[in-house]
Amino acid sequence: MFPFHQHTRLCCALLLAVVLVAPADAAARRQPANAAIAAAHPLAVAAGEEILASGGNAFDAAVAVSAALAVVEPYASGLGGGGFWLLHLAKSDRDVFVDGREVAPAAATPGMYLDAAGNPVAGLSLDGPLAAGIPGEPAALVHIASRYGRLPLARSLAPAIRLAEEGVPAHVRMTLGLRFRRQVAEKSPAFMATFYPGGAIPAEGAVIRQPELAATLHRLATKGFDGFYRGETAERLVAGVRAAGGIWAPEDLAGYRVREREPLRGSYRGTTLVSAPLPSAGGVGLVQMLNILAGYDLGALDGAARKHLLIEAMRRAYRDRSIYLGDPDFVAVPVEQLVHPFYAAGLRSSIRLDRATPSASLAAIDTDGSDGRDTTHFSIIDAAGNRVGGTLSINTWYGATFMPPGTGVVLNNEMDDFTVKAGTANWFELVGAGANAIAPGKRMLSSMSPTFLESTRGVAVVGTPGGSRIISMVLLATLQWLDGADAATMVSLKRFHHQYEPDVVTYEDGAFTPGELAALEARGHRLQRSERNYGNMNVVTWDFATGRVEAGMDPRGRVVGQVY
Ligand code: DON
Repeated sequence: MFPFHQHTRLCCALLLAVVLVAPADAAARRQPANAAIAAAHPLAVAAGEEILASGGNAFDAAVAVSAALAVVEPYASGLGGGGFWLLHLAKSDRDVFVDGREVAPAAATPGMYLDAAGNPVAGLSLDGPLAAGIPGEPAALVHIASRYGRLPLARSLAPAIRLAEEGVPAHVRMTLGLRFRRQVAEKSPAFMATFYPGGAIPAEGAVIRQPELAATLHRLATKGFDGFYRGETAERLVAGVRAAGGIWAPEDLAGYRVREREPLRGSYRGTTLVSAPLPSAGGVGLVQMLNILAGYDLGALDGAARKHLLIEAMRRAYRDRSIYLGDPDFVAVPVEQLVHPFYAAGLRSSIRLDRATPSASLAAIDTDGSDGRDTTHFSIIDAAGNRVGGTLSINTWYGATFMPPGTGVVLNNEMDDFTVKAGTANWFELVGAGANAIAPGKRMLSSMSPTFLESTRGVAVVGTPGGSRIISMVLLATLQWLDGADAATMVSLKRFHHQYEPDVVTYEDGAFTPGELAALEARGHRLQRSERNYGNMNVVTWDFATGRVEAGMDPRGRVVGQVY
């Protein structure tokens, strides 16, 4: 039994209390009537609540939630990984994108995962320390706390340190992942000792303590950047990685830098979209798809025609992702052209209303050049109107499934997000080209897309895990919000996806009616029902008319959104 229901009920009671005393003119002053946090685990939500209650703002809460997620979802994100944090500063009405993405170590080479014949070696970019990029999350937490927070970093990290010290109950997602990753885990004694106590997968509810992670968090809390990237923690990370065949060097850690970037903006039917810029493919893809769709009166079309157009928009945007996108600090990406309405008009001209476009018929890529169990997204709006959308990751389940001894840190396997070999699919079946090739210090292309939607109706903070499907999931949620959906509806929506290659529409049961399925097939789409759920979306919305802030939790995951 998952022991959090009581906590949820308590928060609901608090919600009622706060809403009753909220000032009636809150909406008129563009001040939310309340705050809300939606995250993938109730203990992470509670960590954020604790920080808001002790005088922190949304940014302090984001640090607390991120760090707590590292403890309660060790399979999804953590200090050994990276992420993107999209911030809205209410006072100055400014949006900031904090890029804490991992980078390739200095010793990385384009062919590092290939055999002598030039073919990818199975597992090399996914399992063990060679698969790990240099983590960015610890630096991002230090950056967010010092530049935007109100509280000291140590205060915001305190709930996570407590959770790691006292232990958290193992839950089904944790244990499923341990079953899946056992073989790889066996090569990492420190990982085994932490997550397979006595050599066995823990029973649901068994308390998992992570004292070494608590100590690592403590060093970060007291020493900031140097507490992770230099000194004791860094030495243990590098020694552990190198002893197990990895290539990290002390300079890789000491030289890691967070980047602040201008978010990518677009507009569609009176709504402004503020989303992730490169090295995420999310913002570019979303704006491209919305620009393509802007040429149609979707509301006037039947379900099959509307979904057909969505699929064709996805196909074209994901194709461009494969060809053009990569770390903007390393490659020149024609972003302005890609997000220009004229360019979308050109893409639209090849769309037929009555036929699917075979992906192979679009000009070939010049190769010169879950499903949501891993990775995590949270959304926060505080009572001052500050917002954070954070999508954090160690890539696939338990990342590289490797823990350098004495650190408690699970390393990412984000190197697989690079194009390991041009034209060869990665874990998420994405193909790429030179723009996303491996290079020292380069950030691997991501799909993580924390996004704000803004219109006269209000504001929504949207995002989800789900690998390559993240971008299409955020698109579907965006269109729902435009149609008036609330947070709960947006996260529950049945989803479908096309990513150019493979040339197939995958969908969740219920995403299409039988009639729509038949109509899409008749147009020539290849349709494949997915056995897996898509994503674990956490949305917070703020309605300007009522002032109310609401959290929506994805029924696919054990997600909790609480309002208080
Ligand atoms: O950055 C990315 O696009 C991926 N590493 C995200 C992985 C992910 O969402 C896994 N979840 N199912």
